Amino acid sequence: MIKLIHTLAQIAGITAGNLWRHFVYGRDRLRPVYAIYEMTYACNMNCTYCDDGAGNSYPDQIDKSRPLELADAKRMLGLLRRELPAIYLCGGEPTIHPDFLSILAEIDRLGFYPVLMNTNGLMLPRLLERDPDMFRRIDILIISMDSTDPNVLDRLYRSKKGDGQRVIDVIKAYKKTIHGSGCKVVINCVITDETIDDAMKVMNFCVDEDIAFAPVPANRGKGLMHRFQEIRGYGALVEKMLSDRGPRLFGSSKVFQILMRFKSFECHPALRLHITPDGMIPWPCQSDHSFKLSVLDYESLDALLIDAEKRHPVQGQGLRCKSPCYLVQNVSTHVYLRNPLLLTVDAVRDLLIKGRSD
Ligand SMILES: C[S@@+](CC[C@H](N)C(=O)[O-])C[C@H]1O[C@@H](n2cnc3c(N)ncnc32)[C@H](O)[C@@H]1O
Repeated sequence: MIKLIHTLAQIAGITAGNLWRHFVYGRDRLRPVYAIYEMTYACNMNCTYCDDGAGNSYPDQIDKSRPLELADAKRMLGLLRRELPAIYLCGGEPTIHPDFLSILAEIDRLGFYPVLMNTNGLMLPRLLERDPDMFRRIDILIISMDSTDPNVLDRLYRSKKGDGQRVIDVIKAYKKTIHGSGCKVVINCVITDETIDDAMKVMNFCVDEDIAFAPVPANRGKGLMHRFQEIRGYGALVEKMLSDRGPRLFGSSKVFQILMRFKSFECHPALRLHITPDGMIPWPCQSDHSFKLSVLDYESLDALLIDAEKRHPVQGQGLRCKSPCYLVQNVSTHVYLRNPLLLTVDAVRDLLIKGRSD
């Protein structure tokens, strides 16, 4: 609870500055409340739809961005923590980073809150054997699951046969252990033109298991992968998802109303920094960057952002770029700037809510 109060105080300060600069001062020198740390581009899967926001699959780019050495990763996290309360660990597959447990322990020591992690779940049992406290260091564990059918999952993952069943088993077997550690489980579901029915089943699974649901339409590069509105079953899926009979959504329903119905939004990429495995920040946006700056080259994150803004101002980025990147991290910047209180209340609810199995 103390961590939550500290975070809320830090977010209130950052948000007051953002609102002042955006609405009163008319400048988009915005400051993030969290960073998305892509710990490694390596992955133990090779999902058919995998896309980094610029049209490339993560595992195909391993050589473009190697993970930082442990000491450098720790130094970078220390710098970030001075200005950011929250962190979102992602990849590639974060759990196959060779120093994953050491980095997670450092994130815990530095007091980031909340700590979110997106994983395919395969490595969790092995990591838990090495560190029984692992789940205590994560506040929200987002596990990807695009179908309840192991054969469909195997087709999507393009990894080892049987991985689909293994992921389903991990979710079922570890849900109680994870919740028992105080960590919340969320199921992330990427929807493609071939998996509309699968997404409906995953959604029903989440309702039955009382797990929060985080859907996302598949993107390809800086836009949607399909014309979803023309796909049979998509409309019904979204209606159910957003209705009272729908699942418990992870995050703000306002975000999902825009995201799943493809309403227009203005993206403010500076509000959610991406950090690549080698400790670089692509500016102004991961999907569309002019340059990358290394966090370790600066004495503070603020110094890096001032430099980035000088070289490439992001005034009105969302209006100018016009790219329809329908991802939660983009749509939520729109909602945050217009209704920060709503987003904060929904985030606190997600952190505190007690599921049936808690
Ligand atoms: C690249 S994955 C990395 C984390 C982890 N390996 C996993 O499987 O969840 C991060 C998130 O991006 C999402 N993602 C990947 N490709 C996508 C695409 N083309 N459109 C929308 N979301 C995508 C995945 O669903 C996942 O939640």
